[in-house]
Amino acid sequence: MTGLTKKTWSTRAASSALAAVFAITSGWAAAQDVNPVSPDLTPKLRELLRKEMLSIEDASHQIISYLIAGDDARVAELAQKIHDSFILQQSMTPEDKQDLMAAVPEDFVSRDRAFHEISATLAEAARDGDRARQHVEFSRMIEACTACHALYATDRYPKLVE
Ligand code: HEC
Repeated sequence: MTGLTKKTWSTRAASSALAAVFAITSGWAAAQDVNPVSPDLTPKLRELLRKEMLSIEDASHQIISYLIAGDDARVAELAQKIHDSFILQQSMTPEDKQDLMAAVPEDFVSRDRAFHEISATLAEAARDGDRARQHVEFSRMIEACTACHALYATDRYPKLVE
């Protein structure tokens, strides 16, 4: 896909700001019944999730270095790598899939999906050489990490709820 026009981009920015407002609102509404997901996962799924998390954290660190160096090609490569690590699209057996669905709320799955969509958008902005948009998408990505941790990984990150 080629670069977005200025108009399309501002429309997109407005709708994602709106989506953020909705996310915050529904986050509050669901706050009573959200719990860390890790204790409910099978050992295999827990390991897959942790592996994915460590690999996306490593990729995010590297992305910062390439963003500040203006290395669009490397940003695109790493953002694409994050996108492709999508836990729900990894080769899980049908039984693993069932286990996952039974353990995590639907909201967790949508957040994971939304997060991976942002990484695809970041890769696209990098392929287009659009640096301003790379900064916006990277920032949205970090917000998505923190928002999910604040809801579903408070055992690992208790400071997020202090
Ligand atoms: C859809 C939810 C979700 C999103 C999005 C998410 N995480 Fe996580 N993350 C988790 C959960 C749940 C855990 C706790 C896993 C555990 O303790 O078993 C976790 C744990 C981690 C850990 C600790 C892993 C370990 O083994 O110690 C790191 C590092 C991490 N996430 C990085 C990130 C980064 C960086 C991003 C964004 C670029 C991100 N996460 C996005 C849900 C998410």
